[in-house]
Amino acid sequence: MSEQARTQSVPGADYSSEVRNEALVRWVQEMADLCKPDAVYWCNGSQEEYDFFTGQLVDQGTFIRLNPEKRPNSFACFSDPSDVARVEDRTFICSLRKEDAGPTNNWEDPKTMKQTLNGLFDGCMQGRTMYVIPFSMGPLGSPISQIGVELSDSPYVVVNMRIMTRMGRKVIDILGEGDFVKCLHSVGAPLAPGQQDAKWPCNPDTKYIVHFPEERSIMSYGSGYGGNALLGKKCFALRIASSMARQEGWLAEHMLILGAESPEGEKTYLAAAFPSACGKTNFAMMIPPDSLDGWKITTVGDDIAWIKPDSSGQLHAINPEAGYFGVAPGTNYKTNPNAMETVKANAIFTNVGVTPDGDVWWEGMSDEPPKGTITWTGAVYDPASGKPVAHPNARFTVPAGQCPSIDPEWENPRGVPISAFIFGGRRSTTIPLVYQSFNWSFGVYLAATMGSEMTAAAFGKLGQVRRDPFAMLPFAGYHMGDYFNHWLQFGRDLPSPPRIFGVNWFRKDDHGNFVWPGFGENMRVLKWIIDRVKGKTSAVESPIGWMPHYNDIDFKGLDFSMRDFDKVMEVDREAWKEELMAHEELFSKLYDKLPKEFFFMRELLLSGLWRSPEHWHLAPERES
Ligand code: GTP
Ligand code: SPV
Ligand code: MN
Repeated sequence: MSEQARTQSVPGADYSSEVRNEALVRWVQEMADLCKPDAVYWCNGSQEEYDFFTGQLVDQGTFIRLNPEKRPNSFACFSDPSDVARVEDRTFICSLRKEDAGPTNNWEDPKTMKQTLNGLFDGCMQGRTMYVIPFSMGPLGSPISQIGVELSDSPYVVVNMRIMTRMGRKVIDILGEGDFVKCLHSVGAPLAPGQQDAKWPCNPDTKYIVHFPEERSIMSYGSGYGGNALLGKKCFALRIASSMARQEGWLAEHMLILGAESPEGEKTYLAAAFPSACGKTNFAMMIPPDSLDGWKITTVGDDIAWIKPDSSGQLHAINPEAGYFGVAPGTNYKTNPNAMETVKANAIFTNVGVTPDGDVWWEGMSDEPPKGTITWTGAVYDPASGKPVAHPNARFTVPAGQCPSIDPEWENPRGVPISAFIFGGRRSTTIPLVYQSFNWSFGVYLAATMGSEMTAAAFGKLGQVRRDPFAMLPFAGYHMGDYFNHWLQFGRDLPSPPRIFGVNWFRKDDHGNFVWPGFGENMRVLKWIIDRVKGKTSAVESPIGWMPHYNDIDFKGLDFSMRDFDKVMEVDREAWKEELMAHEELFSKLYDKLPKEFFFMRELLLSGLWRSPEHWHLAPERES
């Protein structure tokens, strides 16, 4: 490659000659030789560089600059209709041994996979620039943080990575001669000389999202969207990191982290795992109702948590990310005012609609889109078409620090102390609003057997329950059975492991309406959880765990009757027997490595149900 091709007219000095990490320099050279880009550019992470690339994306027609008066320094872009979400069936864990990936992951022999991928990557960046993107997952220099370098031929990835991670030259300085996770990414769309580029280059036919856990490396081909392409997120911070965490005795989880401050000023931090598109961002940024006077929620993270015990056994969590890549549809000033404030400026919107006055719109933002709104597919919105304005998995990318509820400790390199774990899926029946598991082991069982109904953004049949253990089914970088054992062992090693709770905001009545109002009102449930953690409130022993009485939850200012409460808390014996039987399906799949405890816990739960009334209500205390 010519020396001239290496330098570009972007602002900021080319610092590649000053990089001292020989393994990095060599790897970049090797990958450039393989992918054959026209140029290699080392990203410095500056604002000038960001402005340059966003400007270039506007000139190319990939980005639309939104009206600076409505949405300063913000952009909208639209993906290829074939490239709108993660591709689970094209995601592989290529561990040396198949049994280390387990039956819930796609696996291929790493040698065979490398051969396939080397074929695909050969010349795949022709006509493009290879961007070297050094990034830190976690605050710069934190002992919990990890460094990666992504090589990508997508400037969309560059600008998104600058928001989602700590990115640029400063990471190279911290890396020194140290190890880093190798992340190679291509949209898989080489350009012949003179060929006009697509607005959203990708490979509609061939996609591979591949992880090599022993090597701690990632190769992603063919997609430019979200978790497929921003390799710091799911690929590194969950799949590779979960495998590192297992070896090293920590946790890498699909969890939000929030702080809850009581009216007395007491702060409690919790981590919660809900499957994709099931309300992590909402919960992490929740604004409690005024009637619950004085409670305040602060946000540490909305998607991923890295959790380590300190020498005394107290767990500390960091958010490895620096931005939010949040679901846009459904977000509004009622459901998530903090997210609405966060996306007011410096945001990238992917697959939302654009209004005639140069702002964005998505389903749920208001009742009707402004007349003449352009949909994510580029058509003028036509209510008669039945097609939405925004894709259901449309997302915003925005710096985390802009969130009004951002926690003052969110970048503390030591992390925040975690007092409890919450797990919840989207279930219209069976699972009560809230319950506390009897102990750590039952909590691990609860999380392992969590199910969630499919949404448009997820996979499979709409409405069907999919087991999504720990909300990690698509993200565990190793055998799910080993993962459960890791959690059990992790708890055994803690002198006083956090309490574990199950929640379900999504229970419906016979008319298909949500019984629980959700969103900010979830604070009432969270308050009970915190009171339980602090030993400040009582609970009833139910067949499946500890539950609040009606009176234990603060319903002040909310019209929620005891009958409503019964509806969201009911444990139906037959439904639960079926639920426990459905666990068997997961168990038989993971049989070779399933913790033996799980079989006994299922039996114990079954025996508890057996002696309970047909419909278990909080009967004895309900009049109190
Ligand atoms: P990923 O970013 O995909 O990992 O998902 P997430 O868990 O952050 O999802 P997000 O917070 O964006 O969830 C969005 C969906 O959850 C929308 O359909 C919301 O309407 C719904 N949702 C969130 N909180 C509640 C709630 O309390 N009640 C109800 N009924 N729906 C909720
Ligand atoms: C998820 O699907 O859980 C996400 C979005 O958070 S993505 O980063 O695209 O995986
Ligand atoms: Mn997620």
